[in-house]
Amino acid sequence: KLTPPEKLPGVGDLSQTALLKALRGEPVPHTPVWFMRQAGRSLPEYLAVREGVAMLDACADPELIVEITLQPVRRYGVDAAIFFSDIVLPLKAVGVDLDIVPGTGPVVAKPVATLADVEAIPDLTPEHVSFITEAVRGLVGELAGVNGGTPLIGFAGAPFTVASYLVEGGPSKEHARTKALMFGAPEVWEALMRKIAGISATFLQVQVEAGASAVQLFDSWAGALTPADYERFVMPHSADVLGRIGDLGVPRIHFGVGTSNLLDLMGRAGADVVGVDWRTPLDRAIEVVGPTRGVQGNLDPTLVFAPTDVMTARAAEIIDAGRAARGHVFNLGHGVIPSTDPDQLARLTEFVQSYPLA
Ligand code: CP3
Repeated sequence: KLTPPEKLPGVGDLSQTALLKALRGEPVPHTPVWFMRQAGRSLPEYLAVREGVAMLDACADPELIVEITLQPVRRYGVDAAIFFSDIVLPLKAVGVDLDIVPGTGPVVAKPVATLADVEAIPDLTPEHVSFITEAVRGLVGELAGVNGGTPLIGFAGAPFTVASYLVEGGPSKEHARTKALMFGAPEVWEALMRKIAGISATFLQVQVEAGASAVQLFDSWAGALTPADYERFVMPHSADVLGRIGDLGVPRIHFGVGTSNLLDLMGRAGADVVGVDWRTPLDRAIEVVGPTRGVQGNLDPTLVFAPTDVMTARAAEIIDAGRAARGHVFNLGHGVIPSTDPDQLARLTEFVQSYPLA
């Protein structure tokens, strides 16, 4: 029933771009590169358009979404755009009382603790996020004309990471309340995971149906879990989200931080490509992930603060290691740090795209 994004009217064929080839595990002309949080506070043009506009207001404004998503694509010529939004936006869209506080992150007014709290959260419908459909359609049209056609990566938060904000009420280092709910109230936990999985799957589906060429599921905080707890309490719900998107026929990237011990499970949850943070050597990640899936990563985001030749030498090591993978997409091991010099990211992009693979 779905029109593949590359077949949408007015949109060129993006299936032969370096990004989509790498995500499918096919040979590439160069290693494709994009950066998590490539749009955002490291860019003066981002700070200029965000002046006086709250984060969640920006995320609900199609024109701003299009402009902010395009900014790093224009500046760097990266191989993919990442949709500008936030993992908590769909919660806001269904009416959860939350805000994104500058310098802090998402803050939830009434944290979730009981089954009634979970049941009070409505399921997401495409109508809740019609501005997302509008923004993605506009973006896909614009991106068709950038550098011969640039694919858009849609994204959502994975159930565990989104649950952490809902249960803690804000950012957390230990995720103690979240894990206490998981260990101590399994029926509430199951209901919460199912609720978020449905919301995240619909959020991704809306982006794919409007023309996103690939998706990334962010389970940023999954590294707080042991493999056994991840497999039992979290993986089935992330697998549910990834399975539903797999049915739509677009490649799926599954990313987390501090997930050295979870990479195998995160792949088996239904990813085509597993995102790797900088703590795990890429050759080890490739071994763990196996020959049926690709990898994405994984330059330490602080290396862009080093001298350019030091940064590019490390990037070369990562590209060389990536050749052993079923497919490799170059990225940082986590998001761009806000104080990053954009000129250094431009040099890194150029280096990765011109690095010979033969
Ligand atoms: O460029 C991109 O990567 C696309 C946009 C994007 C944002 N958030 C924009 C944003 C994406 C993919 C996210 C996902 C997200 N949001 C994650 C998973 C990715 C990760 O970093 O692990 C998480 C954990 C969140 C929750 C969140 N939202 C945090 C921790 C913060 C930072 C708070 C702060 O001020 O330090 C946000 C806010 C946010 N999301 C900003 C941006 C550009 C900064 C807001 C601003 O500019 O005022």
